[in-house]
Amino acid sequence: MTKIAIVGAAGRMGQKLVDLAPSEGLEVVAKIDVAEGYDREWPVGTEGVIDFSFHTCVPAFAAKAAAEGIPYVIGTTGLTAEEQAQVDALLGKIPVVQSGNYSLGVNLLLQLVKEAAKVLDEKYDIEITEMHHRHKKDAPSGTALMLAKSAAQGRGAGDFIYGREGETGERPVGEIALHALRGGSVVGDHTVMFAGELERVELTHRAQDRAAFAAGALKALKWAAGKAPGKYTMSDVLGFTS
Ligand SMILES: NC(=O)c1ccc[n+]([C@@H]2O[C@H](COP(=O)([O-])OP(=O)(O)OC[C@H]3O[C@@H](n4cnc5c(N)ncnc54)[C@H](O)[C@@H]3O)[C@@H](O)[C@H]2O)c1
Repeated sequence: MTKIAIVGAAGRMGQKLVDLAPSEGLEVVAKIDVAEGYDREWPVGTEGVIDFSFHTCVPAFAAKAAAEGIPYVIGTTGLTAEEQAQVDALLGKIPVVQSGNYSLGVNLLLQLVKEAAKVLDEKYDIEITEMHHRHKKDAPSGTALMLAKSAAQGRGAGDFIYGREGETGERPVGEIALHALRGGSVVGDHTVMFAGELERVELTHRAQDRAAFAAGALKALKWAAGKAPGKYTMSDVLGFTS
């Protein structure tokens, strides 16, 4: 069995990853977390790392993985530009898979949104809503940002705005707006709306169980083993062309 470490093992996602790993043929040799009773680092001989923790600790753990030459799968969202640059500086050394969403359904949705944005021109206003549980610490979600980027790619342009307040004036043509809702125990809902004068198209994904993300991340780690150093996404893992 491939020996892996989970960073953020005590968290909502971490617990799912620990539970599901054996069924994917992966042995969890380190459960890393700042919580009491958890490991602080992984042992020599660890063959890969999955990180669903907090953005501030990602660069240091990724650097340790790079020093050891083992693949790193990043699920953690909300990295600052500086933290992201620190991670990107390691890409010459190890394969890094990074995705704001590891579920099959959302990765399919990314393709569908790109296609819809190609077909529906700027007369269709793009509004993206996301809803997550009250404990989520960053906004908008990494998935909403990925969906916005897919829409902009499909359309070939698009300025992002985050929420609206006050005297906003009329909606500019071509704007892509993201709105974050928080409450209760919602695992993760995303809708991309194309609102035209005569009709409206809405593409929605609803995650029902965090296992959807955990299964994808475990699959990504198995896929990354033996890959050339560089940055990969879940679309690469699933073989979706972008
Ligand atoms: N990419 C995806 O598919 C996907 C899906 C769900 C959640 N997420 C992201 O994964 C992350 C975790 O989400 P969650 O809901 O499990 O959060 P959570 O708060 O339940 O768990 C995070 C865990 O990380 C631990 N942690 C914090 N700082 C740490 C450090 N310095 N070292 C080690 N562990 C540390 C916390 O103690 C906690 O147990 C978030 O960034 C979330 O947005 C991504």
